[in-house]
Parts: sequence; structure tokens; C-alpha cells
Amino acid sequence: MKLENPHTGTALSLEEWWMPFTANRHFKAAPRLLAKAEGMFYWTPEGREILDATSGLWCVNAGHCRKPIVEAIQRQAATMDYAPPFNVGHPIGFEAATAVAAVAPAGMKRVFFANSGSEAADTAMKMAIAYHRARGEPARRIIVGRERGYHGVNIGGTAAGGIPGNRKAYGPLMAGVDHLRSTHDLARNAFTKGQPAHGAEFADELERIVALHDASNIAAVIVEPMAGSAGVLIPPTGYLEKLRAICDKHGILLIFDEVITGFGRLGAPFAATRFNIKPDIITCAKAINNAAVPMGAVIARNEIHDTIVNGAPDGTIEFLHGYTYSGHPLAAAAVVATQKLFAEEKLFDRARQMEPYFEQAVHSLKGERNVIDIRNMGLVAGIELEPRPGAPARRALDAHIKCFEAGVLVRFTADIIALSPPLIIEKAQIDRVVETIRGVLKTLD
Ligand SMILES: Cc1ncc(COP(=O)(O)O)c(C=O)c1O
Repeated sequence: MKLENPHTGTALSLEEWWMPFTANRHFKAAPRLLAKAEGMFYWTPEGREILDATSGLWCVNAGHCRKPIVEAIQRQAATMDYAPPFNVGHPIGFEAATAVAAVAPAGMKRVFFANSGSEAADTAMKMAIAYHRARGEPARRIIVGRERGYHGVNIGGTAAGGIPGNRKAYGPLMAGVDHLRSTHDLARNAFTKGQPAHGAEFADELERIVALHDASNIAAVIVEPMAGSAGVLIPPTGYLEKLRAICDKHGILLIFDEVITGFGRLGAPFAATRFNIKPDIITCAKAINNAAVPMGAVIARNEIHDTIVNGAPDGTIEFLHGYTYSGHPLAAAAVVATQKLFAEEKLFDRARQMEPYFEQAVHSLKGERNVIDIRNMGLVAGIELEPRPGAPARRALDAHIKCFEAGVLVRFTADIIALSPPLIIEKAQIDRVVETIRGVLKTLD
């Protein structure tokens, strides 16, 4: 196949880009390329329309190439491309922080910018450790993550994360981490709509971990309120409440990694809002600016900010951390425009209103060949397939490829098909996604 950039006519070589989280040889033998996007759709270089059932990578929540966001980035690029964020500021960076704080839970109005979810996760862990140090408990350095958790790919996030394949090649990475067990319980909870009934007691494991290390050594627990990348694991009813209570009992900070759940995915600004649980720190990225320019953020309880900032002598840098691109003007302009668009179009409410229809549609796949579980909440669903004997993840990869050939982009992790469409999706488009998957499942061995 002759490949070229349809916009420039330049011939493409696939050799040089060593692609991330991709089966490079398999992909390059039969590449799937996207060259244009608008609203709910992508187009391949040959002009074939692909319905986006994954919001890119759980991130384009307002739909693609939305005019107000595009124009805000264009304006900012022409006005001021870059400005340093260390000891110098820029108006659009402050506006972006204010826009994020406006939808953050009460009392969580301090925003630290990074450039990705991975950077947000590592920033949050450093912030938790710095907080305890500032309040006179410097021994609190252990971070507790959870099996099947995903907190990106930097050293801290990989270590606190709990996806074996992501960790096994790299050794311990970061000292002082421990893990809760995953909340996934297929035997008791398969085909649950919304929050599973069983599993709140898995949070009690934190007591065992506290007994092992002693609370005086533990800085924070980091979990995704709804685990996305490991295959859409919805928290059992009462689980997050228990986790919060045990953290409170032992003075441990609770970090919610909301890189996927932030900004409307569950039909509320944050999972914290949807589940009515107040974490101490929230990490976010992706939909913060509709993924139009890389951006991540850590939202802290005001008291965490005040303890670190007010605890240092005047005129000294209080939190020795930050990135060249923290609050980058183009990313910040996209944040302001995106948050305005979310509010104007009430997209978080729209996701909540669409949830019952989406739920009904995805659960209609129960009974199709090889489907062993379906789980959902907000505009997220996971469809778990029985792995092929001796070939884990191949059945879902085949489903992904066949759906792409049939004009629908779905994501897969292991043998789980994950759906997370833009919040602007229409009912007929939900039907098209589900019927495409049904057709593909019927043909898959
Ligand atoms: C919960 C969570 N945390 C962190 C990350 C990492 O984000 P990034 O790929 O922007 O570094 C992701 C990415 O999917 C995520 O889902």
C-alpha cells in the first residue's frame, strides 16, 4: 500500500516512529491511520469515515475540532506562543486555573499544571509527601496504589500502578510502594449495570497495609475512582466511602486519579462529584482541554496548598517542582475555551441523561459469542471477552481491527473492549457502535 499525507502529498515512511503502546510490527504490516477529525468522526487518509467510540483515547469529550477551541488556540499561538511559568506568569495560565477550580469540588481550588496524566500522577505523589513533611511528619513517604491501577508511565506512576505488564520489565522503580487488591470480582458482579453490589470490603485491605507499614510512614493512597485503562472497573457500592474513612482514620491522603473520569465522563464534573466522596488531591488531564494540546493538572485541597506554601520562608520557592510547559499558553487557552464549551452545552448533564440509553444498548450484547461481562457507568462501558486459549488479548485486538474496518473506533485492553464516546454522541450513533460490535462478535472465532 502506498502511504502519503493527504494534506501535503508527502510520501510516508513508517520506520522511524517507534510507536507508543503499540504492537509495532503488527501495526506497520497493516497500518490504521487517521488524518482528519470533526465532531463524532475521524477520516482515514483515503477519506473513509470512522465513528469515534473512544473519544480518541478517553479525552476528546466535546467532540473533535470544536470551533471555539480551535480558534482559542489559533489566537493564542498568534498572540504569545510561550512564556515561562517559573517566577513569571501569564494571564491565560491564571484564567485556566480559575476555570478548572470552578468545576472542582468545594475546598479544592488550587491547581498545579503538568502536561500529561503521567506527570500529574507523579506530581500528586510528590505533593502528598511534601505536604506531610511541611506539617512535621517527614516519615510519611509510602504510596499505596492498587492492582490493575493505571497512573501513567513515569517512574512513580508505573510503580504505584498495578498493571503487571507495564511493570515487569523495569524492576522496583520507586521505593516505598504497596498495593491494595483490585476491586474486580467477575464471579459475583458479572453483567452489573452501574456500581457492583459486592466488594466494598476490599477497601478493608488498607487496614492490613497500615498495620504492616504503620500509618506514620504512609503518605497517600492513589486510586482511579473508576479504573479505566485496566478495562473499566466500576467501584463497588460503598468501596470508595470505606477507603475515605480508613484514610481519615490514619491521616493518609486520598488521591483520586481522574485522568479519565475528570470532566464529564461519568455524567458529572468529576467522579468525586458523582460518588460524593471528597479526595484530598485530584489528578486530571485529557478532557481538561478536550485533548487539543497536551495538558495535565493536580487539584489540591486548599489546606494542602496552604500548608506547603505558608510553611516556607517568604521569598523562597515552596514546592520545588514544575515543568517548562506547566500552564503552557496554548494548552491554557484550550482549557478556558473547553470549559466554557462544556458549560454552555451542559455536556456533563448530557452524558448523565444519555447514560440509561447507553447502558441499555451495551448490555444488549449480553449473550453474544465470547462475552463474559459487560460493565458501565456514565458514558463508559467495558465488554469483556473470554481470552483465546494461549493467546490473551488477541480476540479483542481482532475485534478492534474488524470494528475499524467496519467504520467504528473502539479501544481494547487485554480482552476487554472499552467504549468512551464523546459526550455529544447521539442515540443513533450509540446504536451504530453497538450493532457494529455485535456484527464483529458474530464473526470472531
Ligand atoms: C487514570 C490515568 N492516569 C494517568 C494516565 C496517563 O496519562 P498520559 O497518557 O496523559 O500520561 C492515564 C492515561 O490513560 C489514565 O487513564
